[in-house]
Amino acid sequence: MSPVVPEELLRPLEEFTKLHLDTLRRFGSRALDLSFPNPRFLSDPRPYEALAALASQAGPLDLRYSPFGGFTPVRRRVAAALTGQHGLRYAWNDIIMTPGATAALHVALRTLFKPPDRVILVTPCWMDYPLYLQDLGLACDLVPAAPDKHLDLEAIANAWTSRTRGLVLAQPGSPTGVIHSDTELRRLAALLQRHGSSVPPLLIVDEAHTQQVWDASPCPPPAAYYPQTLTVRSFGKAWDMQGQRTGCLAVSPRLATRHETAGDLIRTMRVSGQCAPTALTQQLAAALCDTPPDLTGLAGLQHHARRVLLHHDVPVLDTHATRFLYARCPTPDDLGFVSHLSGHGVLVMPSTLFHESGWFRIALNIEAPAMDRALTTIGEEYARA
Ligand SMILES: Cc1ncc(COP(=O)(O)O)c(C=O)c1O
Repeated sequence: MSPVVPEELLRPLEEFTKLHLDTLRRFGSRALDLSFPNPRFLSDPRPYEALAALASQAGPLDLRYSPFGGFTPVRRRVAAALTGQHGLRYAWNDIIMTPGATAALHVALRTLFKPPDRVILVTPCWMDYPLYLQDLGLACDLVPAAPDKHLDLEAIANAWTSRTRGLVLAQPGSPTGVIHSDTELRRLAALLQRHGSSVPPLLIVDEAHTQQVWDASPCPPPAAYYPQTLTVRSFGKAWDMQGQRTGCLAVSPRLATRHETAGDLIRTMRVSGQCAPTALTQQLAAALCDTPPDLTGLAGLQHHARRVLLHHDVPVLDTHATRFLYARCPTPDDLGFVSHLSGHGVLVMPSTLFHESGWFRIALNIEAPAMDRALTTIGEEYARA
């Protein structure tokens, strides 16, 4: 019988989805939704312009079936862009186009690991990693990050077992927005090398938010530090077009089993019925993959929101990437605080969904004055709790 995802992992996700819907129904257009990252304003018009141009010029062949893994010219353009960004020479067939980072992550985990392998996750982490691992019958070891949400390398080393075969790391961290530094990545690479005497562990890097660094130099790419790396990208996230479902997997050119692994990943796409993104969406990703999105608006919003929360004495993690702010709840009961805020029409995400307690995540989806109303409510309810 296939493994079953435990009820206790699914329940908080489903309960929050219900709270979200109920609040939207109850407050209608007065709801201030800072939960799922779906911005209500346009930061950069280029995805719309590129999609309109592609659609207006498309002939029948532009809408043809795509091979599993994606169209070769698209893969070639993404490989060239990543070569520039990672400083590694990717070839077109190191790139596998996927319908979002979501599918890329699932396909990678399914291809690379088999029970009884164990995989380490650093928490807080993106909500669905443990679901995928459990669904595949893989054991996951949740290792809390250090108090500043950077890597706790000692804790990772202590969690290592003879069955551990990999680690999933988000760069920048999500939900935290923490950028893992050059030193941190060097130390992590050394740790992974130390544990790889017989089978080298794999590093799965989730770079879904790597193009949303709004106030720092670009994130150092973990693939440049450790050869046994697969990187996940989300063009949807980079360009605020998540619903277009577009991302990719990049196999490091330095991976020992580079070609075999890429072939296995494409097989997994086929056997699991995961197609490449739609034809025009792939062309859209190719058109945008080498261009950094304009983050001026996001940077302004981030600075402003941090100032407002600071004014209300809400402790916010000091980070410089993603659309998110990660803040401490007044008590360890994040679900309770988030539910309380929803009673005022303000929706944020409880950190229980990210596999730790006591924090909440704000997604900067709206602009002033609505954003200020939401932040003021958060500040007032934080003080009152
Ligand atoms: C860290 C992280 N990984 C993966 C995803 C999924 O990305 P996509 O929308 O491309 O499927 C998200 C989406 O929020 C995310 O934050």
